[in-house]
Amino acid sequence: MTTMRAVRAHKRGGAEELVYETAPRPVPAEGEVLVAVNAASITNGELGWDATWTDSFDGTGVDRTPVVPSHEVSGVVAELGPAVTGLAVGEEVYGLIPFTRDGAAAEYVTVPAEALAAKPSRLAHADAAALPLAALTAWQALVGHAALAPGQHVLIHGGAGGVGSLAVQIAAALGARVSATAAAGDREFVAGLGADQVFDYIGDRFEDHVHDADVVLDTVGGQTQSRSWTTLRPGGTLVSIVQPPNPDDAASRAARGVFFVVSPDRNGLEAITALIDQGRLTPVVDRVVSLSETRAAYEALQTEHPRGKVVLRISEG
Ligand SMILES: NC(=O)c1ccc[n+]([C@@H]2O[C@H](COP(=O)([O-])OP(=O)(O)OC[C@H]3O[C@@H](n4cnc5c(N)ncnc54)[C@H](OP(=O)(O)O)[C@@H]3O)[C@@H](O)[C@H]2O)c1
Repeated sequence: MTTMRAVRAHKRGGAEELVYETAPRPVPAEGEVLVAVNAASITNGELGWDATWTDSFDGTGVDRTPVVPSHEVSGVVAELGPAVTGLAVGEEVYGLIPFTRDGAAAEYVTVPAEALAAKPSRLAHADAAALPLAALTAWQALVGHAALAPGQHVLIHGGAGGVGSLAVQIAAALGARVSATAAAGDREFVAGLGADQVFDYIGDRFEDHVHDADVVLDTVGGQTQSRSWTTLRPGGTLVSIVQPPNPDDAASRAARGVFFVVSPDRNGLEAITALIDQGRLTPVVDRVVSLSETRAAYEALQTEHPRGKVVLRISEG
């Protein structure tokens, strides 16, 4: 059996279950690609999702332990499974791995071919790995679910976060007027990403200032979501990536409330690559750590306030 170094959890839990160890190297099945991982990135909260531990999203799935976390990958195609077309061994790729499979905190991972796209050539792997989940979430929210159009006004909560920092840039690139909320210390950072106005989420009441938003992107949930309805124009759309909007609140504003979970999407990645190539989107990397530091990185995410993504470097490139 061929082996690899990987970070795995042998039973469901938090970061304390993650072990850096030797594991079997996976073999690509039909339609899958074996990727030699250069970099992966981690997401706050992913160890709490059912899909990280089972084969479904809703708590009814079959246990998959031991599991490998971290579902954003940038690397090189090492082997093609049967019936894969459109990708070649040696090609640099990036993508979002379906959450109900093993992730990329390992030297190798198998990925359905349709979840991968060519890596943006101007980016190093560590920067490309910061994109798939966060950028696809922002893209699918703003373009797919909200149909954000040039000239429209969007309010983005959590503008300095992993998703928010890319959503601000994508919305600005789409020609929207962008308002955002962020910590006071992140005001200038978020303005630099393209926000026209930034509200301190503690010191300012965003709902006193925004009343005509066509779209709200909620990356925070709770009170932030419930206080957002009055910021929307009638008929506007609130898209949450955290919790389903209350239908009564939406109806009271004649608005639309949407919750969704990001999905792997080669077309979306290609649109993101185009924005990168045009210089209109830049990944935001808080820091890069080694694979052996993965557990500490997940632990730290529970208390710290990163700007953008925490990336695992598995090999150079
Ligand atoms: N449904 C999906 O498909 C999907 C996809 C990706 C992520 N998610 C979820 O979406 C959430 C955000 O993900 P992320 O990776 O962007 O997290 P993140 O990097 O931790 O970013 C969250 C940001 O929100 C800020 N924030 C905290 N409280 C706030 C408030 N009351 N008002 C405004 N901003 C506030 C944080 O600032 P401070 O750090 O300064 O507090 C931080 O910058 C997580 O719950 C994640 O699990 C869902």
